[in-house]
Amino acid sequence: MRKRTEIILALDTKTLEEGWAMLDRLGTALRHVKIGPRLYALGGRGFLESVRSRGYDIFLDLKLHDIPNTVALAVDAFARLGLWGLSLHSAGGREMLCQARDARNRAESSLKLLGISVLTSLDDALWGEVSPAGGTVRDAVAARARLCADVGIDGLVSSPQELSLVNAVAGDRLLKVIPGIRPQAAGDDQRRTASVTVAVRDGADYLVIGRPLLEAPDPAATLEALRKEIEEA
Ligand code: C5P
Repeated sequence: MRKRTEIILALDTKTLEEGWAMLDRLGTALRHVKIGPRLYALGGRGFLESVRSRGYDIFLDLKLHDIPNTVALAVDAFARLGLWGLSLHSAGGREMLCQARDARNRAESSLKLLGISVLTSLDDALWGEVSPAGGTVRDAVAARARLCADVGIDGLVSSPQELSLVNAVAGDRLLKVIPGIRPQAAGDDQRRTASVTVAVRDGADYLVIGRPLLEAPDPAATLEALRKEIEEA
């Protein structure tokens, strides 16, 4: 039987109040909530604890990217907050990822460490500006997927367009957490997008979905429709 693909709501609202209102509108149909830098800056640990006490699994998406010691110190603290997942930027390199993993393990925490591969807002042209030595986005994603799997990071955040590449490199060793989900060309900042159907068929474990739900006239109905699309894929 095919594994079940879960939806993670990217709760990228302007205010905490709007965040709560969105959770209320979506009701209990949702289990995983991704909290990014804005709501974390506004609400801090108290907000995380309140969301958690409502029964949600929290993915704190701060994309940590710093020298190994600094990241390990941060992971040691985050590992004690009862979060489901925490993102780190795999561009930080092997030593950073290893020390993060070790810090999590020493804290005896079930926190999942999720490596960012290459942001889904970058395409090859934008990538060339920050990586002028050559190589494509796909080359970077393949190298970073291999590294995360070798190090024993739990999952990789990558574009739906690179899912089969990540499968080829890392097989089942990484959970595939997939943003950049769009019903059709949305004309926003996301570049490497695909539909729910494509992502599910290519083996996504989790779909990270923000604006398609947050901006929907009826988010609960849209969530239901997305679930149906997952079932049918
Ligand atoms: O609104 P949208 O569906 O584009 O939201 C996608 C979410 O996934 C955003 O919160 C963004 O920060 C996050 N993300 C991403 N690309 C990555 C990693 C995380 O879009 N590589």
